[in-house]
Amino acid sequence: MIAIRNLKKSFQRQEVLKGLNFEVPEGKITGIVGRSGCGKTVLLKHIIGLMKPDSGECLIAGEDITRVNGNRLNEIRKKFGMLFQTAALLDSMNVFENVAFPLREKTRLPDAEIRERTLTELKNVGIVGMEEKYPSQLSGGMRKRVGLARALIMNPEIVLFDEPTTGLDPIMKKAIHQLIFETQRRVGCTAVVVSHDIPEVFEILDYIIMLHDGNVVEKGEPEQLQKSDNPIVQQFIKGELEGPIRIT
Ligand SMILES: Nc1ncnc2c1ncn2[C@@H]1O[C@H](COP(=O)(O)OP(=O)(O)O)[C@@H](O)[C@H]1O
Ligand SMILES: [Mg+2]
Repeated sequence: MIAIRNLKKSFQRQEVLKGLNFEVPEGKITGIVGRSGCGKTVLLKHIIGLMKPDSGECLIAGEDITRVNGNRLNEIRKKFGMLFQTAALLDSMNVFENVAFPLREKTRLPDAEIRERTLTELKNVGIVGMEEKYPSQLSGGMRKRVGLARALIMNPEIVLFDEPTTGLDPIMKKAIHQLIFETQRRVGCTAVVVSHDIPEVFEILDYIIMLHDGNVVEKGEPEQLQKSDNPIVQQFIKGELEGPIRIT
């Protein structure tokens, strides 16, 4: 579904992505892990065509999103749903309107159908009877749920999560991981989860790509990663201070 070929990106003199190569398996949950600042968000922005690389390709269902613009780019973007770190809800709209927003903007569905789809999507993420509340009245976990409902409302084939559990307590983290897992199994989408909740997030991942210093240092199933004999991978997984990764 997603194939990255020799992707490179620098900002001024800082080489952030140094030639990434990997594939994201279709219909599974793939984790992209690595230290803060290693380029995970930059990579996601390339995958949805918000950033253009210096060189290389991002193939989305076979089409290189780095080479398209305008209408075609918008068409490809329709395949994606995205849940950002902040959930990015609109503060001036209530829960119902936040989730209904993509349907109102991008479809001509009648109001009754918009209402039904929105309420169903909210119910699927565990939100019932809170449609009238505003984002500021919600807990962090609830905001993530509403953000997820909005990300799913257009039935995307690919759902991207950028650090979906940042700022949540350990129990809420687990609940959101579980929700991501259940949602992916229910709708069968291709999910990509950027996270540094190691090792907790491993429980829900089918496949992992680890980035370090602008390169893919390891990829495979969680068990393979845990058994990796690469000391960089081991240090990262175990969160150790001593090892080849320099703490800066
Ligand atoms: N638009 C930008 N302009 C300049 N530098 C950027 C830009 N976006 C990201 N960077 C730099 O790229 C590096 C990777 O950032 P990011 O992808 O956000 O890291 P993370 O892995 O924590 O998501 C950081 O050093 C960041 O400062
Ligand atoms: Mg980031």
